[in-house]
Amino acid sequence: MIGMVGAGRVGAQAALELASQGVDDIALVDIVDGLAEGEALDISHKISETGVDVSVAGSNDYATLRGSEVVIVSAGLARKPGMTRMDLLEKNSAIIASVSREVAKQAPGCILIMVTNPMDVMTYVALKTTGFRKERVVGMGGILDLSRFKFVLARRLQVSRSSISSVVIGEHGENMVPVASHTSIGGVPLTSLLSEGEISQAIEETKKVAADVIAKKGATVDAPGNAIARMAKSVVWNRREVLPASTMVEGQYGQRGICIGVPVKLGKGGVEEIYELKLSDKERQSFISGGETIRQAIESLPKF
Ligand code: NAI
Repeated sequence: MIGMVGAGRVGAQAALELASQGVDDIALVDIVDGLAEGEALDISHKISETGVDVSVAGSNDYATLRGSEVVIVSAGLARKPGMTRMDLLEKNSAIIASVSREVAKQAPGCILIMVTNPMDVMTYVALKTTGFRKERVVGMGGILDLSRFKFVLARRLQVSRSSISSVVIGEHGENMVPVASHTSIGGVPLTSLLSEGEISQAIEETKKVAADVIAKKGATVDAPGNAIARMAKSVVWNRREVLPASTMVEGQYGQRGICIGVPVKLGKGGVEEIYELKLSDKERQSFISGGETIRQAIESLPKF
């Protein structure tokens, strides 16, 4: 079973993706009376018509999470137009600390996937408050940033998105690192197709697109829902996909004691391996700046 805390826009969309693909039974929890139940019913009606037989339940009782193999957390405040993810730090860290304790109580064996922003810091808060092994707490951000980088590159190069192979690591925020030095188009290095200036423009555009969506429609919903579903499937089906996600680093990329986006192998055991890439000087600098931002945010939090 997949448990989900937060049946707001992103949680409900991820539930819809997972249920529509018949990945597993789903249990949704939200503090707003009736919301999770209503979403569960609506999704159930949709999949009944399409012939998928997984069950989708909703409640405001955390006990609904019992037996979950994966728990996805998207509870908390979302950015409003003009806000950065870090603006949510204080309020969301309190919410995530209390949600995580409930998750640890009800689903002590689960793999926890953090979505709430600022996601890297919230992944750290969940790790500390659940007391889970570091492999079992992982944050979603890199896949979403990667989907945006691919979109920007495909449009600029006029190629199919499926021909682009790339990765986005670092902070899920202002210092994200789309790794141009390891990006290829059908095997052809990106650096031989675009100039340094054009690559920098594409990276800046990638950083801004989420804020654009929020300014225009109020929230990012569809792309995050897809990215969450991909991570949950990799765990439930033990696919061992190698994808960018936030995890506790212990010396990798010269960082220690923070959660930050890196390429990981994601399977039944959660983060089964972290891979290190050789970065260009500029990429390494952005990664370090992101690490510093996350570290400062962690240091500003109350002790858990
Ligand atoms: P939303 O406001 O639509 O939904 C949040 C839900 O959390 C609400 O239904 C609210 O009732 C619920 N909630 C609040 N406190 C709770 C608690 N203690 N227990 C259970 N439920 C609780 O927000 P939306 O758009 O779904 O975004 C959710 C979070 O995900 C935000 O922090 C947003 O910034 C983040 N996000 C992260 C992304 C990523 O790439 N990591 C992508 C998109 C959003």
